[in-house]
Amino acid sequence: MLFSKITGIGHYVPENVITNQYLETIMETSDAWITERTGIKERRYFTYGKDTNASMATEASRIAIERAGISPQDIDFIVFATITPDYYFPGPGFVMQRELGMQGVGVLDIRDQCSGFIYAMSTADQFIKSGMYKNILVVGSELQSTFLNHSNEGRGVAVIFGDGAGAVVMQATKDEQHRVLSTHLHADGTYAEDLYVKDPGSSRPKRFYDDLVEDNKTGDVFMNGNAVFKHAIVRFPEVIREALDKNGLTPEDIDLLVPHQANLRISEYVRQQMGMPEEKVMNNIQKYGNTTAASIPIALCEAWETGRIKDGDLVCLAAFGSGFTWGSALIRW
Ligand code: ACO
Repeated sequence: MLFSKITGIGHYVPENVITNQYLETIMETSDAWITERTGIKERRYFTYGKDTNASMATEASRIAIERAGISPQDIDFIVFATITPDYYFPGPGFVMQRELGMQGVGVLDIRDQCSGFIYAMSTADQFIKSGMYKNILVVGSELQSTFLNHSNEGRGVAVIFGDGAGAVVMQATKDEQHRVLSTHLHADGTYAEDLYVKDPGSSRPKRFYDDLVEDNKTGDVFMNGNAVFKHAIVRFPEVIREALDKNGLTPEDIDLLVPHQANLRISEYVRQQMGMPEEKVMNNIQKYGNTTAASIPIALCEAWETGRIKDGDLVCLAAFGSGFTWGSALIRW
């Protein structure tokens, strides 16, 4: 039987630190408002001329590949999750592939928003288990600061998001003790418009029907914060339990839960629902904000780098996001 295993992990965040105090100088907000509702103290924004989605992904991937003890030329497939591509098309995975000198290797673009990394990992897991590929680079990268609306109108969303990238190398293994145990993917399009960006999209035929264009704010993120909160706190525990049930495990068996860093209040609620102690849940949203598809690999990487994941640990990844989408992955490290 073939399984997949994470053999290398890396992350990159831009050096430009944007504190809540800085945001206070450009919009009507306060450190207290942001901290109380989201837990976020600072986030990173790209440096113009230095960072792009693809360049951040390239840096994170170089580290992951090096830690896996292989070279870019050993990678036989790339799965790349993002909702903030440098170009409308093609996705940043193709530019990253070029930068890493991996021309010829297939690149699969994944969206799926905050659940994008779980969808990407699950896809890589299936390709490896089927025997099609052996060494897959899985990336989550987001450069979101350029589309945030920093006026007072957009402040409810703008204070939450940040930029960054994370990557893992997944390799084929026959070792049943150290592997991805299972992945679980879900979506409910009923709520597609509860967290979305309308433009650029073909639902707005601007060129031929200018008279139908009702406003000029359709490029902003719209978030129904209450709906997101309400569904997230149900779907996170549900999909974690689904993964545990599938493998005959209980919440006590989890050594580390790495949730998508949506909002500290959501993660805290989920932790309490799962009856888990604080030290078993990874949170770094305080430093980076919500980095959408990049948040899980960045948090997983920091957990690994700081010794919070040891050989044989049971690690659970879980996400909820726009779509709505949600998913989980259970890994025996
Ligand atoms: N600073 C100061 N005041 C603000 C800000 C801000 N950045 N943003 C909004 N406000 C004001 C509003 O204008 C409003 O003022 P009013 O009462 O005078 O009208 C007041 O604060 C309350 O606004 P709400 O939108 O009702 O804020 P709420 O208390 O619901 O908090 C939040 C908003 C934090 C988004 C909340 O709904 C929430 O936690 N939702 C969960 C969604 C979430 O976490 N999304 C993360 C990303 S999505 C994901 O990853 C899945």
